This record gives sequence, C-alpha cells and structure tokens, in this order.
Amino acid sequence: MSSRIEVFVLLILLSFQFCSVSAQTNGFDADALQYLKSSLTIPPRNWKGYDPCGTNWVGIACEYGRVVNISLGNLNLEGKLPAFITTLSELHTLDLTSNPNLTGPLPLNIGNLKELTNLNLMGCGFSGQIPESIGSLEQLVTLSLNSNKFNGTIPASIGLLSKLYWFDIADNQIEGKLPVSDGASLPGLDMLLQTKHFHFGKNKLSGDIPEKLFSANMTLKHLLFDGNLLTGEIPQSLSLVKTLTVLRLDRNRLSGEIPPSLNNLTNLQELYLSDNKFTGSLPSLTSLTSLSTLAVSNNRLTSSQISSWISLLPTSLATLRMAGLQLQGPIPTSLFSLPELQTVILKRNWLNETLDFGTNKSQNLDFVDLQYNDITEYIKQPANKGSSRIVILANNPVCPEVGNPPNEYCIEVEHNSSYSSPKNTCGRCSGEDREPIPTTCRCVYPITGTLTFRSPSFSGYSNNDTFENLRLNLTGFFENRNYTVDSVAIRNIREDEDDHYLLIDLSLFPYKQDRFNETGMDSVISRFSTQTYKPPNTFGPYIFKANKYNKFPAGGSNSSHIIGAVVGSTVFLLILMIAGIYALKQKRRAEKANDQINPFAKWDANQNSVDAPQLMGTKAFTFEEMRKCANNFSVANDVGGGGYGQVYKGILPSGQLIAIKRAQPGSLQGALEFKTEIELLSRVHHKNVVKLLGFCFDRGEQMLVYEYIPNGSLRDSLSGKSGIRLDWTRRLRIALGSGKGLAYLHELADPPIIHRDVKSSNVLLDESLTAKVADFGLSQLVEDAEKANVTAQVKGTMGYLDPEYYMTNQLTEKSDVYGFGVMMLELLTGKIPIENGKYVVKEMKMKMNKSKNLYDLQDFLDTTISATSNRNLKGFEKYVDVALRCVDPEGVKRPSMNEVVKEIENIMQYAGLNPNVESYASSRTYDEASKESGDLYGNNSFEYSASFPTTNLEPQ
Ligand SMILES: *[C@@H]1O[C@H](CO)[C@@H](O)[C@H](O)[C@H]1NC(C)=O
Ligand SMILES: *[C@@H]1O[C@H](CO)[C@@H](O)[C@H](O)[C@H]1NC(C)=O
Ligand SMILES: *[C@@H]1O[C@H](CO)[C@@H](O)[C@H](O)[C@H]1NC(C)=O
Ligand SMILES: *[C@@H]1O[C@H](CO)[C@@H](O)[C@H](O)[C@H]1NC(C)=O
Repeated sequence: MSSRIEVFVLLILLSFQFCSVSAQTNGFDADALQYLKSSLTIPPRNWKGYDPCGTNWVGIACEYGRVVNISLGNLNLEGKLPAFITTLSELHTLDLTSNPNLTGPLPLNIGNLKELTNLNLMGCGFSGQIPESIGSLEQLVTLSLNSNKFNGTIPASIGLLSKLYWFDIADNQIEGKLPVSDGASLPGLDMLLQTKHFHFGKNKLSGDIPEKLFSANMTLKHLLFDGNLLTGEIPQSLSLVKTLTVLRLDRNRLSGEIPPSLNNLTNLQELYLSDNKFTGSLPSLTSLTSLSTLAVSNNRLTSSQISSWISLLPTSLATLRMAGLQLQGPIPTSLFSLPELQTVILKRNWLNETLDFGTNKSQNLDFVDLQYNDITEYIKQPANKGSSRIVILANNPVCPEVGNPPNEYCIEVEHNSSYSSPKNTCGRCSGEDREPIPTTCRCVYPITGTLTFRSPSFSGYSNNDTFENLRLNLTGFFENRNYTVDSVAIRNIREDEDDHYLLIDLSLFPYKQDRFNETGMDSVISRFSTQTYKPPNTFGPYIFKANKYNKFPAGGSNSSHIIGAVVGSTVFLLILMIAGIYALKQKRRAEKANDQINPFAKWDANQNSVDAPQLMGTKAFTFEEMRKCANNFSVANDVGGGGYGQVYKGILPSGQLIAIKRAQPGSLQGALEFKTEIELLSRVHHKNVVKLLGFCFDRGEQMLVYEYIPNGSLRDSLSGKSGIRLDWTRRLRIALGSGKGLAYLHELADPPIIHRDVKSSNVLLDESLTAKVADFGLSQLVEDAEKANVTAQVKGTMGYLDPEYYMTNQLTEKSDVYGFGVMMLELLTGKIPIENGKYVVKEMKMKMNKSKNLYDLQDFLDTTISATSNRNLKGFEKYVDVALRCVDPEGVKRPSMNEVVKEIENIMQYAGLNPNVESYASSRTYDEASKESGDLYGNNSFEYSASFPTTNLEPQ
C-alpha cells in the first residue's frame, strides 16, 4: 500500500515538473500552427515563438494545451489553408470569416478534424470542390461556406452530418443535383433531420428537386434555394416539412402547377415563387395564418382577375408581389383591406379602371407599385398620419407622358428607407476612413460592413421604429458583452432589386481607442459569424460582410481575454494526467500478463526453437549480456531516445561499440511483430544503412543492437552540436550516402522497405562521415503498404512529412523521396525545416520562382557552407533543382531514390569530385579545420559573397 502512495507522489512530482518545464502547447498543435503561419503571407503580428497557447496568439484559444478555437475574422489574411491544419484533432471552431484573400481549395482531408463543431468560412476566396471528407466531421453543427468561389457539386457525404444545424453554401458556383440518399450506401441531404437551415441560394444547382429530399421527419425552418437553375415541379413531399417558416424557390426554372399542398405548411411566413415557369392558377393559401410574404411574380400562370383569387390569400399578408402575371380587370378595393398589408407590387399587368384604396384600407400600407398597367383613374386620399404612403402609377393612362410637372404618383421611386441613425452632426474627420462617433464627435476608425437579411418578414420600410429597434438591439448587445465597441450606427437601408434581400450598412465604433486591434475585430466578427448576435425577430437570420479594415494599431496586440482556460486548470490537468498515467500503467500491466500467455513469449533467445527468427548474421543476446554491455543501463551510457524508449551506448566483450535501442514498456510490440522486424532488419546489409548486430528478447524486454555510429546524427552536425563542420563537399557526400541507403531500401532490400521517417536526425555519420540511414522503428514493408488500410495512422515527422501521403494516407516510396528532398534543403540552410513559422520548402520555392537568380539564395545558406566552400560550389544549382523536384506536391512527379542518387553523382562529377571515393579523403574534423582557419564560424560571408556564383538556374 505504502509503495503505491510513493508511486503516486512521484507521479505528482513528475507531472508537475512536466507542466512547469514544457511549453503550454501540445507539440503537434504547435507544429500545425507553424504550418498555418507559414501559409499566410502576413500572419497576425503577435504570432511569434513556438507556444501559441502559452503566448496568447491572436485568435487562438486552447484548453489543456490543445488548440480548440481558431477565430480570425476579417484580419486581411492572405494565403492558403494547409493540409497540416487537420492535425489539430481537438479543434472545435475554425472561423476565418471575411478574409477574401484566403484562396485555393479546402484541404482534402478536412474530415480529420473530428471534433470540429463550427466551420465558418463565409466571405473568403476558397475555391474548387467541397471535399467529400467533410462528411466525416461528425460533430459539425454550423457549416458556413457561403460567399466563396466553391464550384463542383454538393458532396453527398454531408448527409452524414447528423448534428448539422446550420448549412449555408449560398453565393458560390456550386452546380449539379441536390444529392439524396439511395437507401443503401449512398448518403444524401434527406438524412439531415436536425438541420434547420438549408441556405443554397445564388449557385448553379440544377436538375429536379428530388421527391426523396423531404420527409415528415425533417425539422427545416429555412429552405433557401433561390437563384439557381432548378427544374421540374415542386415535390409533393415538401408539404410534409411542417416546420418550414421560409421557403424561397424564386429565380429558378421550376414548372408545373403551384401545389395546393403548400397550404399544409401552416408555419410558413415567407413564400417566394417568383421568376419561374409555374402554370395554372394560385391555390388557396388560407391555412397559412402566419404568412407575411407571398411573391409569385413573373410566372406563366393563367391570366386571371384579382377578384377570382383574392379570397385565397391569408389575412396575415404584409407583402404581395404579383408582377408580370397578365392580371386583368380592376383592382378590388377589398385587396387593400387585408389588415397587415404593407407592400403591394402589381406592376407589368393588365389591370385597368380605377385605383381606389377604399375606406377600410390597411393602416400599414406604404408602398404600392402599379407601373405598366391600364389604370385610368386614381382616387387620392389624404395620407395616413405619420406614414408616407408611396403609390407609383407611372406608365398608366392616368399618368400622361406629357404632364408638366408630373403628379407625385407618376414618378418612379425605389423601395427603401430614409432611416439613418444616429445623425451625424459632427462634420467630417480628417484622414481617410475616419468617422466621428455621432454621440461624442470623437474621430475613430470604425468597423464597417453590410448586414444582409435574406428573408425579413416585413416590408414597411417607412416605419422607422423597425430600424431604430434594430439599432438599439445592436448597441445593447455590444455594450453588454464587450467593451471594445462604443456604439453602432445604421445607414443606407435598401432592398436588392433582384433577390429582395434587405441590406443595411453598419458602422461599429471602437470604445475609448481610436481603432480596433485584431482581437477586438475578431470578437466583433465572430459574434456575427456564429449568429451569437440575434436581431429582432422580424429580421430573421443574416450575414454580415465586413469591409476591409487596415487600421490595426502598429505593434500587434494581446488577446488576453480570449484565453482563460489554460491558467487555473493546472490542478485539473494534474489529476487528469495522473489518472491517465495510472490507466496506462494498468493497461501495460494487462499487456504484460497477456505476453506471458503468448506462445512467442516462451521464445528463448538462446534456444533455436521453431519460432525463432530467421537470422542472417544477427545474434540473440540475453538481458544479462545487455545489462553488462551497457553498464547497467546507466545514465552515462544513455545517448538519447525518443517516444519508443532509450538508446544506450555499450561495448561488447570483443571490444566492438554498440548502440542498444531499448523499448520502453509502452512501445513493446507483440512478439510476432518483433520477430518480423528482426527478420527484416537482419536482411538489410548496406554500407549506408545502420547495421543490426543482434537483438534481445528476454525478461519481457525488447532491444535492438546496432553498430555504434560515433559521430552522431546529421542534425547534430548541422546544429553545431557535434562539433563537426560540414563543408559543401561533405554535404554532397552525405546526401549521396543517405540517398544510396534509401535507394537500397526501396529497390534492393528483400522485401523492399519504406522508411517512413526520413529526416536529418535519422541519418548518422560514422568516423569517416559516411552517412548511414537509421531507425526503422516506423518502417513498413512495401507490400504491406500496398495493401495498407487507408485508415492506418499517418506516421512521420512534421516538416518532412509528404503532404500527399498525409492527405491520402497512401504510402509509397515517394514519401521517403519527399522527406529526402526536405533534408537536401536542410543541408543547404542548416536549419530545421520549419523555423519561425517558415517552411523551408515553401520559402525555397518562392525564392526560386521569383527570380531564377541563385544569388537570391544567399541568405538561405548555412554560414558554414559560405565560410568554407567558396571554391567548390559548382553544381550547386543542379542540387537545388533536384531537391525541389523531390518535394513536388505530387508523388508521381518526384524522381525515384535511384534517380536522385544518379543526379547527385552527376553533380559531384560536375564539381570535380569523385563520387566513388570514400568521404574520409575530404574529411577533416572540426578541430583540424579550426586550427587551419583559426576562425571557425568567423564572418567570412563578405568574402564569400564576392565569389558566390551568380549563374542562373539551368533549365531541366
Ligand atoms: C486582397 O488582395 C487584393 C490584391 O492584392 C488587395 O487589393 C485587397 O486589398 C486585398 N483584400 C484584403 C481584405 O486584404
Ligand atoms: C473549379 O474551379 C477550379 C479553380 O478554382 C478549376 O480549376 C476547376 O476546373 C473548376 N471546376 C469546375 C467543375 O468548374
Ligand atoms: C421517420 O421517423 C420514424 C421514427 O423515428 C421512422 O420510423 C420513419 O421511418 C421515418 N420516416 C422517414 C421518411 O424517414
Ligand atoms: C396536404 O394537402 C393535401 C392537398 O391540399 C391534402 O390532401 C393532404 O391531406 C394534406 N396532408 C396533410 C398531412 O395535411
């Protein structure tokens, strides 16, 4: 019991140390954000360092060290969304609203963001097909892809998003049919039973609206299909969706009769059927007791008299649009006595005789457009008190063309509101984009933009109370929630002529400051993009498109208030970690017990049982032998390690130095896998591949015994840690050697092997600086890879990881070629592939594209090369060319390792070096070199730049 408590205390101490020494950001998450940063032309200014959670990067929110929120609305971001962002496996919200210069397609593997609940990309410049993998985002609640440049079709897989509430793809170039399920394997939109909003307007959707799309189990409120190319009839099944409040089918190519069953949709408030090819007559809609808008203009209905259908209208109607329908006869006075009526549009018909509003007319009536009819007389009445009714009779006989000056009702006017508030009585501010806050006349840089309402339930724009209400509502919302907004102004209220959307310009003024910082901007934008701000009911849902804002204060900003979860959760984190470690220990204990009943566990290292591996010159060691060799596995012998365990230096009785890779309990493989790995590794014999000397499978331990490589890893040398100076010649030889090692694994090893983790810390240098490829911990047989399960976990190291493999999970030799290409570039720069948010591959490509003048690469070059290699940089340009081909985004375009080796050999010959001569000849140690020059990393760059070749890249 007491020993348990000790373990417990130790664990607490250990975890505490872990917490206090490490950065707050999970390593993979930090890497993914570095990738994101490197993909943005101008990243947010306070994105510095490697600890986004610990240093409060703008727009990033974390919990327990994991990035859960990326919210970067309207920050003028420019660039592409990198595939690696999908390693953020705890991400809940990705909100990039209103960054029109974020372009390119969405990562194909976006479905990897398994925890994502909100994806808001409204108003960006993304293009291409919406990835099918989006259907894997099982937690998704909000999907806003509207106002981008997406094309292609709606992925059927979206039908799998069983929690989806809000689905907006409006205002794109999306084409094809509305996908529905086939009842078997193919999903479809009919499966979205929780979704309340289908906003598909302004696309190029075509085909019939499938009968299958709708069912009584749906809970849709808003169905916006307006502005597409849909054909056929309105499906009968639509009337089963009783929850519908807004139905917009206008501006399509729909035909057939308007189904009488629409009268079953008793919650309907807005019904837009205008600009289609409907025939027949208007059905009764009297059951639609909440209907406020009926728009049927410009169809092919049978010519009729208003009196024949006026009794079919519900009494709740506020807006009636029936233009261009060949309506005949007089307008019955009773039409205007519908009590809620605000707007009547009957232009371009054949209506005649007298216009008389009668004595019983609606108190709210304020806009009547009767242009292009045959009305001969107008019985004018005094205007209602307070409201200014507008009647337009232009192009009717009652308005003769020659009449001078024309009557007021003969002038064509637009339907909009003159409301604008608060009034600006302050005059102008100096400086572009500055505006005075109307209440205080303080000159500031406001956030401006347009609120768009796609289905308001009113049309009485002359009623100022409606808009004053909106302004007070907005002001109150922002005042209460966040002190970055001082107040809100509303201006320029108008209706779009084609789609009748209501557009309102907003100005949001900063509180106390004269401008918003990035955090303030993002908090305002995200309140709109997530619909946290709710306008008064009659307005309905909206989108807010912000205008470009380029007045952020200099010197970045702090986002202290977004983050909060990290601090104060340490105790909870500790408890979690302890629980986690305890659970892990229990699991390992169980695994160990399992091993004991495994037949392979009996496999005795000294006995040649049938199950023993087929060894090729590989010796089996006992645990005792290993322990002696490695000096009791003492700290002094510990030469490094990784996730799998530690590596110890040891010495065999024969005097040979060895490296022992000792798996830690958590990375033990099954006996069969261990055996397979040894069999595989024991068959690998190549000068440029680290040689397996033996193994130990004893006392529940698994160890691999390798030849000891004295000069450490290439990374150690590049970083200066090992004290070996690598001149250009040595670097070429290392590239050649490691390339040969990989080519051997790919093409000559039997069976062929894909390394899967090619990187500079897996290339070791022996005493003559011969490169040796090491660490097959992750390697995979090619034949396994070919039949590999696509769900297999992607393995490798950030920075070297092949983006294509990452996206498709299809492993080939070309993924190693990618990692090798990155390493070739690393040999040039000396730096790790991603540093300071810069990804060497991208940087190098940019440099090469801009000007094909190699002189530009100078600031990339490791100073050690420049300091030592001024004579021998011949072939340099070819080298860069090969490296860039290795990191081609498409695997098929990359050369094979064999081809790479040939190219490097050519480069060496071109540079006057003999590729077949061992590198020892050209090797000198750090000490020798420094003795000669006296100035090791001395600043010879001036000297060097004078002799640096300025030749252009040769064409391929
Ligand atoms: C997007 O890029 C264009 C062209 O470079 C530029 O004019 C525009 O201001 C940019 N927009 C934003 C919001 O950054
Ligand atoms: C979609 O757009 C991309 C570029 O944005 C273009 O390459 C592609 O051909 C388009 N696809 C379709 C089906 O129009
Ligand atoms: C609707 O739901 C019920 C019960 O959940 C189910 O039995 C029925 O098959 C569903 N109908 C459709 C058309 O999906
Ligand atoms: C819907 O309307 C049609 C035609 O008006 C009617 O026959 C049918 O019974 C209604 N269905 C429901 C479920 O109310």
